[in-house]
Amino acid sequence: MKKKKILIVCLVIVLLTISSIITYSIYRQNLKDKEEQKRQEVLKEKRKKAAEKKKDEELKKQEEEKKKVDEENKEKENAIKSNKAIDDYPPLNETDGEKEVIGTSDKGYTIYKRNGITYIDGIMIVNKSYGLPEDYYPKNAHADAANKTNTCNSCINEVAYNAFNDMKRDASAIGLNIYIQSGYRPYSSQKTIYNRYVARDGKNAADTYSARPGHSEHQSGLCFDLNSISDSFANTNEGKWVNENAYLYGFIIRFPKGKQNYTGYKYESWHLRYVGKELATKLYNNGDWLSLEEYFGISSEYED
Ligand code: DAL
Ligand code: ZN
Repeated sequence: MKKKKILIVCLVIVLLTISSIITYSIYRQNLKDKEEQKRQEVLKEKRKKAAEKKKDEELKKQEEEKKKVDEENKEKENAIKSNKAIDDYPPLNETDGEKEVIGTSDKGYTIYKRNGITYIDGIMIVNKSYGLPEDYYPKNAHADAANKTNTCNSCINEVAYNAFNDMKRDASAIGLNIYIQSGYRPYSSQKTIYNRYVARDGKNAADTYSARPGHSEHQSGLCFDLNSISDSFANTNEGKWVNENAYLYGFIIRFPKGKQNYTGYKYESWHLRYVGKELATKLYNNGDWLSLEEYFGISSEYED
């Protein structure tokens, strides 16, 4: 009987020992799992911080690169502005035909005609008050404008065409792309365009943005529309650059912002007119563009 008791006690001891060992093992495993979890979390946090740091560094690098490119572009622009070679954009001063004085402007300028075309100080005037003969076409054009019945982008005055190419080259050097969207337009093309707008929007509205045939500067071969004939052009990098630099090549923004009362037309950021650098610089007016009409003191109104 005593032997049996001893055996039972021994068995209990063994069982207790085994159970203690198992419990301890589970406890150790849990501890290990927790430590591993903690280690993984620390690792994750470290990786996250490293990724954030890398991203910050990349952003900083990109900003620095952009700053560098901007500075380089500014330097190129300044070099262009101080380049004496581009001072050479003369007024055209046409002298063909007898001079016929037709009046004096509000600012005291003599208004005169040659061959039915109006001039002030050698500058051709084409607006709602002063038109062009129906059969007029540019005589000193880069490409022959005679007998053209459609828009011709290279049929603009040779001097203006060369000035445009210089401007295009300099714009391109700082990553901008400017091109002629619409250059010379014969009377017949302008008639089609204007009539289409009248049919779409009515005469009063059309007259605020499209010239009647015989009154469009596009017939003169001294102007052109750039890139996109749209209000959005003003806010593109090309539009902003042209607004600030076109005068250096002898061009003016022919229908400046807020000058509709003078020009008779809404703002056209894309329509440039060649007048020569001297007058263009005056009309640029340190960035606060004057219209040709207000500068000379002339009107732009249709008779009817
Ligand atoms: N858009 C200008 C005014 C023209 O038609 O000549
Ligand atoms: Zn135009």
